[in-house]
Amino acid sequence: MRNALTLGVAAFALLATANGSRAEDDRQLVEMPEMMQQHMLTNMRDHLKALEEILADISAEKYDDAANVAEERLGMSSLERHHASHMAPYMPKPMQDAGIAFHRAASRFAIVAKNVDVERSYDAMKQLNASLSDMIVACNVCHASYRIH
Ligand code: HEC
Repeated sequence: MRNALTLGVAAFALLATANGSRAEDDRQLVEMPEMMQQHMLTNMRDHLKALEEILADISAEKYDDAANVAEERLGMSSLERHHASHMAPYMPKPMQDAGIAFHRAASRFAIVAKNVDVERSYDAMKQLNASLSDMIVACNVCHASYRIH
């Protein structure tokens, strides 16, 4: 009985994945050489790691550190580090724009975090939350539209 149930659940999960992911994946495929793909995904994992560090810094009330991580790893200052000028030619223009919009959102977050470090007020914290949200929305704007494999 337990086995039959497990099997049923597994079969349903399989079906759901097969239907769901194919039918709903209307992201545009962006083709680039394998090495570039790997490079891009490495950057992406570092983006997520940077967010982890930013949230840890915020929890520890180290707003200045959060600002520095955001600017250096995600913001406009991070473009060279990510070899953006080599990657950009492989991306359609709207994807490049989504990338720039994201880096700008990260730089805005960094400015707001610097301000919280000085002000330490409820209002400044509210702005911090809003700009953190804007930055993550900008990650997902791109994720919703493009894939590389
Ligand atoms: C300009 C577009 C763009 C922006 C902005 C962007 N990403 Fe990505 N990201 C991608 C693409 C394209 C992929 C590959 C998706 C695929 O092929 O399925 C990806 C993949 C990833 C992956 C998977 C990495 C792996 O090893 O498979 C992670 C994690 C990720 N992104 C995190 C982030 C985070 C966090 C942010 C924001 C802080 C972000 N990304 C911003 C385009 C973007």
